[in-house]
Amino acid sequence: MIKLDYSKCVDVKIFDSYKEDVKRVNKMINEKSGPGNDYLGWADWPINYDRDEVRRIKECANYIRGHFDILVVCGIGGSYLGARAALEALKGLKYQDKMEIIFMGQTFSPNYVAQVMEYLKGKNFAICVISKSGTTTETSISFRLLKQLLEEQVGKEASKKAIYAVTDKERGALKTLCNQEGYETFVLPGDIGGRYSVLTAVGLFPLACAGIDIDEMLKGAQEARELYNNDDLDHNICYQYAIIRDYMYRHDKSVEMYVTYEPQMSQLSEWLKQLFGESEGKEKKGLLPGSVTFSTDLHSLGQFLQDGSPVLFETIINVLSPNQDILIPHDNEDLDGLNYLEGKNLEFVNQKAFEGTLKAHSEDGGVPCQIIYLDKMNERNLGHLFYFFMRACGMSAYLLDINPFNQPGVEIYKRNMFHLLGKKGY
Ligand code: PA5
Repeated sequence: MIKLDYSKCVDVKIFDSYKEDVKRVNKMINEKSGPGNDYLGWADWPINYDRDEVRRIKECANYIRGHFDILVVCGIGGSYLGARAALEALKGLKYQDKMEIIFMGQTFSPNYVAQVMEYLKGKNFAICVISKSGTTTETSISFRLLKQLLEEQVGKEASKKAIYAVTDKERGALKTLCNQEGYETFVLPGDIGGRYSVLTAVGLFPLACAGIDIDEMLKGAQEARELYNNDDLDHNICYQYAIIRDYMYRHDKSVEMYVTYEPQMSQLSEWLKQLFGESEGKEKKGLLPGSVTFSTDLHSLGQFLQDGSPVLFETIINVLSPNQDILIPHDNEDLDGLNYLEGKNLEFVNQKAFEGTLKAHSEDGGVPCQIIYLDKMNERNLGHLFYFFMRACGMSAYLLDINPFNQPGVEIYKRNMFHLLGKKGY
């Protein structure tokens, strides 16, 4: 279901010099002994997850689907990107479903927040607020606004059945509020950080509400864990991918460009950018993750990728068969000259764009390109892919001697902002 082709990127021989390191790091992940080991809970999560909680997630999701028209998912960073990435990758950008999902809490933008609030007026909506710390400012402001609107519209008692939270089991302002108000809560486990949490209630609850089969996602992740929790570098494509990243970094590349040919996968690229950027970008080290969606961006950044500074390599995620397709019709006049494509479907054209671009970038442009192939985009493959990348990220960061699970750099701007906002203690 998932394959890695590195033939246009590196020679197989590079793996030999990594064998000892891979053995050492794989042990650190499996035995939870590496730096930040308190946050390695995601590694065995696909087999250890709380079955009762998943049952409760599905029950509540059914209730929400039966009683509301809209679910507003309120969170940011790791408490937001995974659910959005999965929702769009699986359902598309113009999907129709009885439950509309709206994301809020990921921005201070007055325009966006005011527009969502206006849109929700008079509508039958529920809220899912997600925050591990329970104190993230973007999420908290949005939740305060949403909660007030809901209470105004349906009253305090009824709003209790329309508010759901995913947060720490015991700690934090959100947990205290939930206990006080009696909201239904799901747990973001203490040993799993935000950007590794997509397969917990953080991702699963909103996705179940959207009608996505979360059991299949967990099955896909289980399969991935089975395949990738070993140091057999001849077969473990997850670690091969991690090594290629490391090799590129040590051979003068500073940017990994994620490439997809599906606009509905652009949020998956955002999730990847957070996962790798926040996990690895420390101590003046790490690859800068970037992303493009082709063929759209071939008409903009394509020029740089082909011909610009040779700072990057490409990681292309190619889904081989789309969930929907459309034929190019015949036109009697053929003024646009497209009749040579009549009867062909768009996926045929998209794949030819991929093949032509791969040749142009790798051969003419000299850009190393590796390709991750998926036979199709479905819950199982996506669960697999999420686990693949999280595990690769753990390996990759440890190869750089980086703790993949903290984010000391993101606190500095917050301190300045809080000082400027006049928050007590800053
Ligand atoms: O990956 C991370 O740890 C971060 O992106 C957090 O998820 C993000 O800052 C949101 O934090 P919280 O869930 O505490 O609101």
